[in-house]
Amino acid sequence: MRVLLEHHLQRGGVYVSLLVLLLPVLCPSLFSPLGHASPSLFSEWNSPKPRHLSLMSGALQRQISNEQKSDLWAPLPPQGWKQCKQTRNNPILPEVPNGYIQVFLDGGLNQQRMGICDAVAVAKILNATLVIPHLEVNPVWKDSSSFEEIFDVDHFINVLKDEISIVRNLPEEYSWSTREYYAVAIRATRVKSAPVHASANWYLENVLPVLESYGIAAIAPFSHRLAFDSLPEDIQRLRCKVNFQALTFVPHINELGEALVHRLRYPARPQSGADEFIQMSVEESHSESFGKFVVLHLRFDKDMAAHSACDFGGGKAERLALAKYRQVLWQGRVLNSQFTDEELRSQGRCPLTPEEIGLLLAALGFDSQTRLYLASHKVYGGEARISSLRKLFPLMEDKKSLTTEEELAKVEGKASLLAAVDYYVSLNSDIFISASPGNMHNAMVGHRTYENSKTIRPNMALLGQLFLNKSMDWSEFQQAVQTGHRNRQGQIRLRKSKQSIYTYPAPDCMCEG
Ligand SMILES: *[C@@H]1O[C@H](CO)[C@@H](O)[C@H](O)[C@H]1NC(C)=O
Ligand SMILES: *[C@@H]1O[C@H](CO)[C@@H](O)[C@H](O)[C@H]1NC(C)=O
Repeated sequence: MRVLLEHHLQRGGVYVSLLVLLLPVLCPSLFSPLGHASPSLFSEWNSPKPRHLSLMSGALQRQISNEQKSDLWAPLPPQGWKQCKQTRNNPILPEVPNGYIQVFLDGGLNQQRMGICDAVAVAKILNATLVIPHLEVNPVWKDSSSFEEIFDVDHFINVLKDEISIVRNLPEEYSWSTREYYAVAIRATRVKSAPVHASANWYLENVLPVLESYGIAAIAPFSHRLAFDSLPEDIQRLRCKVNFQALTFVPHINELGEALVHRLRYPARPQSGADEFIQMSVEESHSESFGKFVVLHLRFDKDMAAHSACDFGGGKAERLALAKYRQVLWQGRVLNSQFTDEELRSQGRCPLTPEEIGLLLAALGFDSQTRLYLASHKVYGGEARISSLRKLFPLMEDKKSLTTEEELAKVEGKASLLAAVDYYVSLNSDIFISASPGNMHNAMVGHRTYENSKTIRPNMALLGQLFLNKSMDWSEFQQAVQTGHRNRQGQIRLRKSKQSIYTYPAPDCMCEG
């Protein structure tokens, strides 16, 4: 939902107030990953049925050769691109900075992250001092966590101290410049007109004069407001330095993330006979996936399901519920709804259901002993929808299943902190795969490229076609999936001029060698 919503937000905020009103009705189980609404409230599903029964029975009996497993779990080989060695090309801090830059950032955690990186770059372009960015409360996620509550602010300032000056708060003389001040009237110090992907020159021509006149410029909206092409090399590098080095989470998030990673790698064994214990560990320690885990980022929420306009097998009740949702939220104006389900699927425009992503993972060579961490907030249809995936991967875990109540208490109900924990676990997994494109997917593709870690990118168009073909048997499906994903496992892809530097950090942010 986050990505879609951000998209709407960007285009005009019209849906926001509607969503706020509707939210308690539409999404009663926002923060429970596998939670589903009580049946009395929601009878939209006649329990979503598995749609690919014959593939499913093939997948449940899958045989995966050892060679296949070791290929799958092997780390990526070096690819000729590395993180650059720190070079101090004597960065110059302006002696008298041109005033203060303030930004207010919309969206979920991963969108805000990009906004923070861009804010540092814009402050650098203008030789201004950056005020620690203000994170807006997202109307859906309702998390009011501040920058300081999510990111380690001392580390942030310290890593960037030779590049730009950053202050936590405005000095007394500018303390009037607040979100509330800008909310009630048109103000000379507010820059409201930054175009999407504005150039460095745009900032020099439009924001520098504001800084020179008033000593401060507050830019909002700011998401996606700095171009990716035609920027000086040092600005691009700075953006990457912010994303990959300066932005770290607060210690308690890292600790919780680390604890989850450890529990995934070294699970507690079931209490059983000693003989069995020894047998298990010998067998396991020979396995290619021993001590390893894969993260599945699964976004399959109602907003996404409705927006895609695809049919997900929940029958007439579900189709009506989704159509109603489209009507209420977008007055029925959803691009995809002009196509049939079959057309959408063959173009790869339908999000993969938990069942389908399970079949994909099984065909790629993940066996039933795979430790699978589900990075997800909630699944439309709840446990009924997720049960096929769980059948294929009984060792599936998530934030809830791996933590104690005490551990969870600090982050519970705080969407950004929960997203931060998922970010940490995802970044540190052996393999990452996302069931749908979006901000989290892009952020991980970029960060894991920077770390040269394995990331599988589902070939949506191919999968759409394979799932439409009802005459395909398991071995044909498996073969086609493997062939179609051979070059989608983290092989380096160089950024094209308009693409995001945060998704494609090479060549701008990495060095050859
Ligand atoms: C920023 O500082 C650098 C180095 O002193 C200078 O070359 C550049 O012109 C300055 N830019 C602005 C917008 O003040
Ligand atoms: C479906 O799969 C079968 C078996 O691989 C293949 O022979 C057939 O051409 C496919 N049909 C379509 C419509 O792609």
